[in-house]
Amino acid sequence: MHAVGLTDHLPISDPDSLKDVRIPKPVPKNHDLLVAVQAVSVNPVDIGVRKGGHDHLKKPKVLGWDAYGIVEAVGDEVTLFHPGDKVYYAGSIKRAGSNSDFQLVDERIVGTAPQNLSPSQIAAMPLTSLTAYEALFEQLKISFNPQRALPAIQKHQTILIISGAGGVGSVATQLAHLAGLTVVATASRPESQKWVFSHGADYVVNHRENLVTQVRSQLHERYVDNILELNDLDGHWDEMCELIKPSGKIASITENRYPIDLKKLTKKRATFVWEWMYTKSYFQTPDLQSQHDILEIIARLLDKGILNSTLTKKLQPINAANLRAAHQLVETNHMLGKIVVSNPESKL
Ligand SMILES: NC(=O)c1ccc[n+]([C@@H]2O[C@H](COP(=O)([O-])OP(=O)(O)OC[C@H]3O[C@@H](n4cnc5c(N)ncnc54)[C@H](OP(=O)(O)O)[C@@H]3O)[C@@H](O)[C@H]2O)c1
Repeated sequence: MHAVGLTDHLPISDPDSLKDVRIPKPVPKNHDLLVAVQAVSVNPVDIGVRKGGHDHLKKPKVLGWDAYGIVEAVGDEVTLFHPGDKVYYAGSIKRAGSNSDFQLVDERIVGTAPQNLSPSQIAAMPLTSLTAYEALFEQLKISFNPQRALPAIQKHQTILIISGAGGVGSVATQLAHLAGLTVVATASRPESQKWVFSHGADYVVNHRENLVTQVRSQLHERYVDNILELNDLDGHWDEMCELIKPSGKIASITENRYPIDLKKLTKKRATFVWEWMYTKSYFQTPDLQSQHDILEIIARLLDKGILNSTLTKKLQPINAANLRAAHQLVETNHMLGKIVVSNPESKL
């Protein structure tokens, strides 16, 4: 089958950084689905894995952690899906990615694809939705009833979302708004500020300027109840410690490059918690199938038009040249929403 892979960790400007290759078509066993991939999105994790190594690889490594596709075959323990089902998922960091004609993925981390969206609109969503949902509702423990996703229930609670216009922030802003929180999101440019307002942010502040003074003057409050940090933990740590309410909660999805001073939270007895979207599949946790459940909820919200796809840019078809172009864009660290690479829809 055709796939896009890497054998050397090269800068994206090098035509060999991602190459069109032929690899064997895999066979599903146990809980695996074999999915005919139709659309994929590119996330910062693709960039990190592509850059993160020195050795020449004997077999091409296939990246890609977001996909929409059609189930072609199933393993003998599969109960949730059948051949022909349309599905979407983010996958596992331990396995070959979605940048190939066919991919194996454990059914327990796969969702039924939304019915009213295009393949590209769907492929934009899984990784960022899982991350935002788990961070807000599992790690920050904000209450959310997807049956009654109604703003205004928790308006007494505030959240600061640092990086509101990127892939994860574009979903997190919508979900926090739907959970009824007062949302302050950060964006640094007129178009990204407009984008976060369109997703339900009540206030927008600029992450290139002092967040403490801006948040306080906008909210007329000294502290926020929750903070979700989605870009540059080191750079925003001191501001977050200053802004978090006593007994408040901070969640981060980005790793610090330098030691962070947890003592700054002692007197406030504030909580700091990590979110890693891959934890459940990496450690095969007992709640692995909760990712299937979350993707089912997200699909329903998307189909009802309560949640909007964050797709902003599309390329066709899935090949090395288009994936290099998508990597180049994500590497800028200035994404607005998501970029998706898909096969022509006439082939679907
Ligand atoms: N732990 C997990 O499970 C998990 C999951 C997904 C992603 N991640 C990580 O989380 C980060 C964000 O992912 P993403 O998909 O949202 O990335 P993304 O879409 O590439 O994020 C781009 C956004 O980041 C903003 N930004 C750039 N520098 C910033 C800064 N210093 N402070 C605040 N915002 C800044 C940009 O705004 P401007 O253009 O306005 O500057 C842009 O809108 C990445 O590091 C990624 O690896 C972790």
